[in-house]
Amino acid sequence: MVEEKFTFIDLFAGIGGFHIAMHESGGKCVFASEIDKFARITYEENFKKISPEIFTNGNFNKDITDPELNYNSIPQFDVLCGGFPCQPFSQAGLKKGFNDTRGTLFFNIQEIIRAKVKANKKNNTVKVPKIILLENVKGFKNHDKGNTFKTIQKILNDLGYEVQTAVLNSKHFGVPQNRERIFIVAWHKKQIKVESFHFPFGIDEKDNVIFKREDRDKKAKETKLGSILLKNSQLKKLELKAEKSYTISEKLWAGHQRRKLEHARKGNGFGYSSFNSKSKYTSTISARYYKDGSEILIEQKGIKDRADRPRKLHPIEAARLQGYPIDDWYKIPVSDNQAYKQFGNSVSVPVVVTLAKEIQKQLL
Ligand SMILES: C[S@@+](CC[C@H](N)C(=O)[O-])C[C@H]1O[C@@H](n2cnc3c(N)ncnc32)[C@H](O)[C@@H]1O
Repeated sequence: MVEEKFTFIDLFAGIGGFHIAMHESGGKCVFASEIDKFARITYEENFKKISPEIFTNGNFNKDITDPELNYNSIPQFDVLCGGFPCQPFSQAGLKKGFNDTRGTLFFNIQEIIRAKVKANKKNNTVKVPKIILLENVKGFKNHDKGNTFKTIQKILNDLGYEVQTAVLNSKHFGVPQNRERIFIVAWHKKQIKVESFHFPFGIDEKDNVIFKREDRDKKAKETKLGSILLKNSQLKKLELKAEKSYTISEKLWAGHQRRKLEHARKGNGFGYSSFNSKSKYTSTISARYYKDGSEILIEQKGIKDRADRPRKLHPIEAARLQGYPIDDWYKIPVSDNQAYKQFGNSVSVPVVVTLAKEIQKQLL
């Protein structure tokens, strides 16, 4: 049992990357929200043991924009986590000016914080959230020429928070995946008197945190794709059991090769990407991986008993590529396609585990 040191809410929860991280740092989840039916199944399957209350007391919300949900009824919490979908500001919103964020899901995050700030003004025993931890795609800061980010920063500043951001890459945290994501850490200035937050930029061979961005390429733990791939015998067993093959069809392979050639003729490097056990890392797994696997194909040429064509990752490998404890306790209760979507949408667990530990140490 991890000692409970603070409470958190898990918005746009997906399959719980933040939940694992916050729990490992001593956080207790008091509310979660996820709209997707299949992500909810994975979430409940894995977190009902860790946070049983939210599944029985109505605090596993389905839709954070539900007008029936009164934000005052969300239990008090110290940390808000949210890998919110980057929904571009609507044109209508733009016309009304950048302060109007209606129509975006960030608006709901803002309103949840505002509800707590307001409640605290009326009754100072109600806690104001101490930390806001958000995640988004790398390009988020440049969205709409930087105006989206500026608006969000201003909203958080106006609510009393200091905001700091960093782009972190999963490959620096021991997972063999090149995945860059922006993390936004905001702390409530009245409650937390620190000048700045020192982002962890990676971990070294001894799991020490690397705090200097310029050190990370040299000092980060080495990664190798072979470390997350199933053994051929294991893969074969799983294929037999599921009565399916992860090797892509001849037709799909021909299509991938044709498109790659077409792109090459146009002088660009687009098209499928393939890797083998010696590769240091793969490209970013996305929610569309289930479609044709083009961003990460595993080479099989010359491997005994395997076809010459490449294969897709097995969902277990997709889970490992995102650092999920799939060999320990984490379970996949959904179809392969749903699992690919869920892992593709998720945060890399070792990144958020490291980040959560630093937040707990430096800010809580
Ligand atoms: C980028 S994913 C976040 C994944 C998560 N960080 C994880 O570790 O798996 C965004 C999630 O927001 C969910 N979502 C979108 N709109 C929502 C809404 N109105 N209410 C609740 N969840 C929503 C999506 O279904 C999706 O799972």
